[in-house]
Amino acid sequence: MNPQPAQSEALRGGEQPVSAGQVLRIHGLSVSYPVYGQEPVKAIRDLDLGVRPGEILGLVGESGSGKTTLARAIMGLLARPGRIDGGAVNFDGRDMRALSEEALRAIRGRDIAMIIPNPRGELDPLLTVGRQIAAVARAHLNITRAKAEELALEMLRAVQIPDPKRRFNAYPHELSGGMAQRVVIAMSLVCSPKFIISDDATSGLDVTVQAQVLDLLRALVRDKRTAMMFITRDIGITAHFCDRVAVIYAGEIVELAPTGRFFENPMHPYSVMLLAAFAHNPKLREKWHKPLASLIRSQGKACEYATRCVHVEPQCNATHPELRELEPGHFVRCFVPVLRPA
Ligand SMILES: Nc1ncnc2c1ncn2[C@@H]1O[C@H](COP(=O)(O)OP(=O)(O)OP(=O)(O)O)[C@@H](O)[C@H]1O
Ligand SMILES: [Mg+2]
Repeated sequence: MNPQPAQSEALRGGEQPVSAGQVLRIHGLSVSYPVYGQEPVKAIRDLDLGVRPGEILGLVGESGSGKTTLARAIMGLLARPGRIDGGAVNFDGRDMRALSEEALRAIRGRDIAMIIPNPRGELDPLLTVGRQIAAVARAHLNITRAKAEELALEMLRAVQIPDPKRRFNAYPHELSGGMAQRVVIAMSLVCSPKFIISDDATSGLDVTVQAQVLDLLRALVRDKRTAMMFITRDIGITAHFCDRVAVIYAGEIVELAPTGRFFENPMHPYSVMLLAAFAHNPKLREKWHKPLASLIRSQGKACEYATRCVHVEPQCNATHPELRELEPGHFVRCFVPVLRPA
């Protein structure tokens, strides 16, 4: 595999949430879901984020924080009744919001791929896995069936499926969960997309298989300089897999940093809480008894996290904090960040 220049670019520090050189650039994105008789749920609020070629950006947050909404908004596939209230999604120089459905469809699968969990549900039970991968290649690349099948076999090799020639002719039910996930990865990579979103895709696998699949995914992404957004509820997984970590809370990025810095010195009280496995602490859990969905209809005049924060101060209930750069490339949305003594 090649050396990994993009990683060092991202780790050099100073990377802004959105900057030139990123293949995906999201500016001020806001998404809401109207709810009958109530305030709409503001699922994504004025969000800025970007990903460089070859970079793996981890997006971490609890259930209901807006991760899938963000992924779907990027792809132009927002679930009803969701709507984009403002902002821009620029992918590879194109304004995604201005594209027709047809143009978006051409981009999805070819330039942007999404890996989601439940690999078996993704696969057609009546078609061999080789033909399914080949079908994706043929749908997007102008190639013959023979060439597409050759490419499919090459992908099965790349994702390290044992005995790929035989597995080419296997049906999905003949594969283990880990192998089915590899097939889905092969399918998403077959057109050499520029950007991949993985939404909680590996969480159903057992820990060892998950580690193998992630290692493989990382090697493939690095080798092809693909940009990747890796969505997870498991903050631990990002430590070894991602170049930068973005923590999302109630639809906002509350912390964004190169992975090393993030784990050395998490500054947002929410990040600290996530890392401290708050779920095992009954005192903290008491503060968390309300589900997130009931908290995210606020008008943005306070810190969204104030209702749960153990460090809360009067200012936090009066003013909405901005994302501030507290050290190069390390952004925190908090008036009272957790700073380690020098
Ligand atoms: N189709 C929908 N209709 C109404 N509200 C929705 C819809 N989809 C999501 N929401 C709301 O938007 C917010 C963000 O949901 P989203 O699914 O993006 O969260 P998530 O971070 O992906 O959660 P999870 O980790 O459980 O997948 C939640 O409050 C959720 O209830
Ligand atoms: Mg989700």
